[in-house]
Amino acid sequence: MTATRTIATIGAHARSIMMTLAMLFTVIAMAPLHAQGPSDDSWVAPARAGQRANPLMPTTDVIKHGQELFHRDCEQCHGKAGRGDGPQSFSLEKHPADLASARVQSQPDGAFFWKVTEGRGVMPKATLGDKDKWSVILYIRTLAAAH
Ligand code: HEC
Repeated sequence: MTATRTIATIGAHARSIMMTLAMLFTVIAMAPLHAQGPSDDSWVAPARAGQRANPLMPTTDVIKHGQELFHRDCEQCHGKAGRGDGPQSFSLEKHPADLASARVQSQPDGAFFWKVTEGRGVMPKATLGDKDKWSVILYIRTLAAAH
């Protein structure tokens, strides 16, 4: 009797160990897939939004205006040169994007316009009028050169 029960117990143990191993294996096998996915969490604007052209020309006045707005509304997070190191950036749950980076600069003005309008997470919706948004975007373009 005792022997039968012992065997049954060992059997149950073996089964649960096998189950645990199988689960562990699945988790390990899935891990690289997960890491390869879009896990850098890039923020992608809809293609249509990107097609919207900037109606402003990058004149000295427009860029200067954009710089003032950037300084007032964006710099605290994105930093003076747009590198994502503004004083407020360190207390945010998500690090602000590096606006001077190739990943960001490769996007069209329309994509920036859409993102600035929509906001995401800790990145607020801009409280700027359309013209001001387009101006600040032309200023952001000048940050790429300084990179
Ligand atoms: C409170 C901090 C904060 C302020 C203020 C802020 N941003 Fe951001 N911004 C962020 C964060 C954080 C992200 C990354 C959001 C994400 O990917 O989820 C971001 C992302 C962006 C992006 C998208 C970059 C990409 O990944 O393609 C743009 C463009 C941008 N910000 C422009 C601006 C502009 C222009 C202003 C000012 C009008 C501004 N931001 C103000 C925190 C901020």
